[in-house]
Amino acid sequence: MKSSHLQLSSLLFSVFASAQNSRICQDYMIPVNITSQVLVASYPHFQDSYDVVDFINNLARRDANATKSPFSGVESATAAYNIGATFCSPGTNTNTSQERTILVATHGLAYDRRYWDSGMDPTNYSFVDFAISRGYSVFFYDRLGTGLSSKVSGYNESQATTQLGILQQLTGFLRDGKYTGNFGTPSKIVHVGHSFGSLLSNGLIATTPEISDGAILTGLAYDQNASPFLEAFALRIASEQFPGKWSDRDNHYVTSVDAAANAATFFHGDSFSKEVLWYTESITQPVASIELLTSGAIRLNATTFTKPVMIISGEFDFAVCGGNCVGILEHPAKEVNFPNATDFQAIVHPSTGHNINFSYNATGAYDVILSYLSKHGL
Ligand SMILES: *[C@@H]1O[C@H](CO)[C@@H](O)[C@H](O)[C@H]1NC(C)=O
Ligand SMILES: *[C@@H]1O[C@H](CO)[C@@H](O)[C@H](O)[C@H]1NC(C)=O
Ligand SMILES: *[C@@H]1O[C@H](CO)[C@@H](O)[C@H](O)[C@H]1NC(C)=O
Ligand SMILES: *[C@@H]1O[C@H](CO)[C@@H](O)[C@H](O)[C@H]1NC(C)=O
Ligand SMILES: *[C@@H]1O[C@H](CO)[C@@H](O)[C@H](O)[C@H]1NC(C)=O
Ligand SMILES: *[C@@H]1O[C@H](CO)[C@@H](O)[C@H](O)[C@H]1NC(C)=O
Ligand SMILES: *[C@@H]1O[C@H](CO)[C@@H](O)[C@H](O)[C@H]1NC(C)=O
Ligand SMILES: *[C@@H]1O[C@H](CO)[C@@H](O)[C@H](O)[C@H]1NC(C)=O
Ligand SMILES: *[C@@H]1O[C@H](CO)[C@@H](O)[C@H](O)[C@H]1NC(C)=O
Repeated sequence: MKSSHLQLSSLLFSVFASAQNSRICQDYMIPVNITSQVLVASYPHFQDSYDVVDFINNLARRDANATKSPFSGVESATAAYNIGATFCSPGTNTNTSQERTILVATHGLAYDRRYWDSGMDPTNYSFVDFAISRGYSVFFYDRLGTGLSSKVSGYNESQATTQLGILQQLTGFLRDGKYTGNFGTPSKIVHVGHSFGSLLSNGLIATTPEISDGAILTGLAYDQNASPFLEAFALRIASEQFPGKWSDRDNHYVTSVDAAANAATFFHGDSFSKEVLWYTESITQPVASIELLTSGAIRLNATTFTKPVMIISGEFDFAVCGGNCVGILEHPAKEVNFPNATDFQAIVHPSTGHNINFSYNATGAYDVILSYLSKHGL
């Protein structure tokens, strides 16, 4: 009797627990057709990794703006691509405001959509799982040239403006209720980014503010000379670095030389575990040289955006703050970039580096982010 009671309660508990943690996810391959203003590339092609270090040295020099332009003009380009994406929503739906909101997550350089949904120790690291536990749904995708999305030229094709066009088109599809499983049409869409993905999300609210209800920009700062991180990155031609692994990428797709260079760029001190660092090595994606060259082509002053905006970056972020974000996140961003946002917040997340999501206190940052959204009815 006693033992059957115990069994029943443990059964009930496990049903309850799995309902609490359940998520329903669907993978998609989404055709897009993008017209964007692109820069006409005219810089030297990489023959070997010595050309890569030369390129980076020019990009990182203190008078880089005075060196020869890598471009010879601007033109309009139209192209069709396929974008790999995942949509996840909570298994149980009680129709709260969170459950009608979709978070659209755009990852940064050197990752694909797995940045948001760590396969290793998801309880401690997966933003998707954390958001699901708060009732949100998340759409996360592989940026052009990464993961399962179309592979393109790293010399001139995966430009920041083209990637912004993709984010805008995907957002339009979601607003129409496409690629959302059984979820239907959202009432709100919040754009969440990390690093280069934050630049794109910022570009979206600057150029098409009407298609977003809020933005969370992680791993981002403004007007900092953080070019030393380009050297710390220690980039080499990806297909030569790991023969066979990146045979679908041209010589303009580059990757860190080793895990230590990955740590130098993305992590800080003892705020992360080496196992997680090695996990991120295993899921890393090459970076295109044209991505590094065109990040400045995105308009960042979202002067007409009136919805909530939060920036949150690691205290010791080397990539965007030159190793110290204290005192530089709020201004001039508040005045220049988001003068009309509701309740603009600039948060220094303590102890960590650039990869907030893969640091010990990742869920501390997720809590700050999702509590902020919930406070604003998102
Ligand atoms: C390069 O930047 C410096 C400092 O921001 C500025 O003073 C200088 O005029 C710029 N040079 C060119 C060629 O744009
Ligand atoms: C993309 O759109 C353009 C018009 O904007 C059209 O000419 C072209 O055929 C489309 N490409 C594909 C593959 O759908
Ligand atoms: C969910 O709530 C909204 C209002 O908040 C209501 O319009 C809608 O009918 C509800 N949907 C379901 C399935 O209950
Ligand atoms: C990382 O955190 C950001 C917010 O800080 C979130 O938007 C993103 O999805 C997270 N990524 C992962 C892999 O959990
Ligand atoms: C999650 O992180 C906590 C605190 O760092 C750690 O004690 C725990 O072992 C981690 N969980 C797993 C499953 O590794
Ligand atoms: C990239 O370069 C190729 C070869 O010169 C050219 O055909 C193509 O139009 C260029 N694409 C873009 C987006 O500039
Ligand atoms: C916003 O930035 C664009 C260039 O990115 C510039 O043309 C425009 O004048 C700026 N607008 C304001 C209000 O500063
Ligand atoms: C946005 O803020 C700026 C500066 O405070 C102001 O001049 C401008 O009129 C505002 N624009 C809108 C659309 O509210
Ligand atoms: C974890 O992150 C939160 C949010 O940034 C912060 O308030 C808290 O102090 C952090 N905890 C530790 C131990 O750093």
